[in-house]
Amino acid sequence: MVFHRLSRLGSRIVRELPRERPVFGMRILHRSYGQYLQSSPMLQRQTRSLKEALFSNNRKFCTSFSTTSEKGGEETEKINVIFVDKDGEEIHIKVPIGMNILEAAHENDIELEGACEGSLACSTCHVIVMDTEYYNKLEEPTDEENDMLDLAFGLTATSRLGCQVIAKPELDGVRLAIPSATRNFAVDGFVPKPH
Ligand code: FES
Repeated sequence: MVFHRLSRLGSRIVRELPRERPVFGMRILHRSYGQYLQSSPMLQRQTRSLKEALFSNNRKFCTSFSTTSEKGGEETEKINVIFVDKDGEEIHIKVPIGMNILEAAHENDIELEGACEGSLACSTCHVIVMDTEYYNKLEEPTDEENDMLDLAFGLTATSRLGCQVIAKPELDGVRLAIPSATRNFAVDGFVPKPH
């Protein structure tokens, strides 16, 4: 709408520019427009209202950027996750809400396998949620995840597949142990029995 009005105003200015002045290039056009603007209060009003409309449109864009940036603060968009490796060493990382734990581990060079890249065809992304309180905050595992977990090395009551655990605010501070070994039937030659 604003751009339509702007283009109408522009064509009107060009149409009504003093004919006697030759227009060579933008500088002359700009000067002629300035002189014409000064001599036309109505045109001044229209230009002002267009500027206001454009400014308010830009402000809308700016507001959305700053909202994104406000949301982008670490406190609101990322949670703290602590990996405990097989030697008992803790690795603290920040994980954006919505990202799965396998992806987060890889982004932070943490040695968590992920042979099937999250397609629920292995159990190499096996992690153990160290606190039951956090384990209970997770979504229930699907049947497919449970099937794969059954094949995991060192399965525990709080085991999950990292690629299926999605970061959410309630998980802030969760501690995840990485088992000392993984079992990948695709590589180890283990063939799961059909149910
Ligand atoms: Fe294979 Fe998670 S990476 S199931």
